[in-house]
Amino acid sequence: MCGIIGCVGRGERTLDTLVDGLERLEYRGYDSAGITLLGDDLGVRKTAGKIADLETLLDERPVDGHIGIGHTRWSTHGPPTDANAHPHQDCTGDVAVVHNGIIENYQSLRDDLSAEGHTFTSDTDTEVVPHLIERGLEMGDSPEAAFRNAIAQLDGSYAIAAIVGNEEAVFAARNDSPLVIGIGDGTASSDREYFLASDVPAFREYTDKVIYVEDGEFARLDSELAVTDSDDQPVDKEVHSIEWDAEETGKSGYDHYMLKEIHEQPRALRQCLSGRVDELAGTVNLDGLSDRSPSSVQFVAMGTSYHAALYGTHLFQQAGIPAQAFHASEYATATPPTGDALVIGITQSGETADTLSALREARSRGAETIAVTNTVGSTADRECDETLLIRSGPEIGVAASKTFTGQLAALNLLALATVESARTRRGVVPELRELPGRVQSILDDSNAAEIAEEYHDSESFFFIGRRYQYPVALEGALKLKEISYEHAEGFSAGDLKHGPLALVDEDTPVFAMVTGDDEVARKTVGNIKEVEARDAPVVAVTDGRSDAALYADHVLEVPETIPRAAAVLTNVQLQLVAYHVANLLGRPIDKPRNLAKSVTVE
Ligand code: AGP
Ligand code: GLU
Repeated sequence: MCGIIGCVGRGERTLDTLVDGLERLEYRGYDSAGITLLGDDLGVRKTAGKIADLETLLDERPVDGHIGIGHTRWSTHGPPTDANAHPHQDCTGDVAVVHNGIIENYQSLRDDLSAEGHTFTSDTDTEVVPHLIERGLEMGDSPEAAFRNAIAQLDGSYAIAAIVGNEEAVFAARNDSPLVIGIGDGTASSDREYFLASDVPAFREYTDKVIYVEDGEFARLDSELAVTDSDDQPVDKEVHSIEWDAEETGKSGYDHYMLKEIHEQPRALRQCLSGRVDELAGTVNLDGLSDRSPSSVQFVAMGTSYHAALYGTHLFQQAGIPAQAFHASEYATATPPTGDALVIGITQSGETADTLSALREARSRGAETIAVTNTVGSTADRECDETLLIRSGPEIGVAASKTFTGQLAALNLLALATVESARTRRGVVPELRELPGRVQSILDDSNAAEIAEEYHDSESFFFIGRRYQYPVALEGALKLKEISYEHAEGFSAGDLKHGPLALVDEDTPVFAMVTGDDEVARKTVGNIKEVEARDAPVVAVTDGRSDAALYADHVLEVPETIPRAAAVLTNVQLQLVAYHVANLLGRPIDKPRNLAKSVTVE
């Protein structure tokens, strides 16, 4: 999920190019870093921590070579330790591999390789790859064939780069993870230089000519560049010119990290579901988490994660399991969990002090705890009995966007795997599978920027929704508050007339989330009429199956789906509204005043 850099033909500047490239990928977030260079032998240096720590290591134990690969890791399998940092090697030390993403079938591959006598030194999914390559070499494959055959055995999402034996080449392949090749002009010592990275900024200062590697393609970089398909046939690749310069790096052309992260949601969703749902069988597999049947559930969380918790209560309650959501800071006075109650802490950072404290309280009361988090090795991950990773990849913007979406998806998986019926699973799993594409269609077609243009000067914004759309209303308001500094409130649609309606006038845009055509939708349309009658402008966020649009001044469309998945979609529209309002108001979107990405005090 994080960063890969590789280069050939850079001569003496190889090491500097790799380290600079890793620094340029730092914005993607990471917890460990490492490089390998091929010189007289294959030198690997890697460490948990920052690139500065890697540089210290390189000062202490220099390494030399003229081709190399480097990596920044965002842990998904095993905590951020020196041993888990990439590159990973085979038993002989002749193969080095870096990988971004997740190898779904790593456990069975690892079992087979271990049984054959291969020794593993890390907890990662990645380490199977160098051993698979080693196995191929032992069987007489050429380095390239060994690499290709290893890749062919992998399921999952990956961008992988490898150095194999003494072959003076970098091999690379990808599936559902970004990988781009840069074509340089060459140096005094070489006719051509080639770069490989997960994102252009890593090498933009050396070249503006790039080739995008596609899923299923292989690349070999040495004195020549060869891109081939899975049948080993050459692929004629288009060379693109990058218009932006090296200084505009980091955000992949987006103006803000938050906007980039909003656009990363289709991929983040795919990662979250990857290897966990089987559409044909209608099953959900969360390994150790699946075999639970809690009698009740308590969620503890703060801020955006609390909104995910509220959403989670609906999922479990629908399955007949009593469920409550608490602001973690208010958990001390909650009724103690009893019997086989489950306490679920939702925290993208895994470090929120309020949430950690509530989870400790729950454990001291004898409850089993689960952390739903984005951060392997975080305190929540380490302290809870079990962890469910949302796999959103690092989020740099202080305001949560893709991690909220990841939390909603992960909570669906948890409910489906533990308490929901086979029939429900068969109905829900295909809708979850469709979510990434549906989010993409919203990102492609949204008119949120026009709505923001129309209303960004408003004094106050209201958001209303029922059931699964109620947490979305709260989250829509929080997002707008956080990044635009404008007053915004979210309400359950039914509660509006019990007080807040007094605040509504013709200058209060009301965003109403209405999907489906059931009773919930009809009642929300009734609430829309209430505000419309007070002359408030209404923006309906809707799939068009109800009458909502008839009473609305504007519509933000979402594709049709089941109610629980519709909440993910409406929320994406609200993220875009918040982003564009804040942008029009010139706010520092990625670093809003007074807020921190992880709040480590109670
Ligand atoms: C999200 O936009 C906020 N920055 C904040 O509400 C956040 O959700 C809250 O602090 C909880 O953080 P966590 O998920 O890391 O525990
Ligand atoms: N799954 C791999 C690991 O945990 C790669 C993570 C990444 O993309 O950085 O090491």
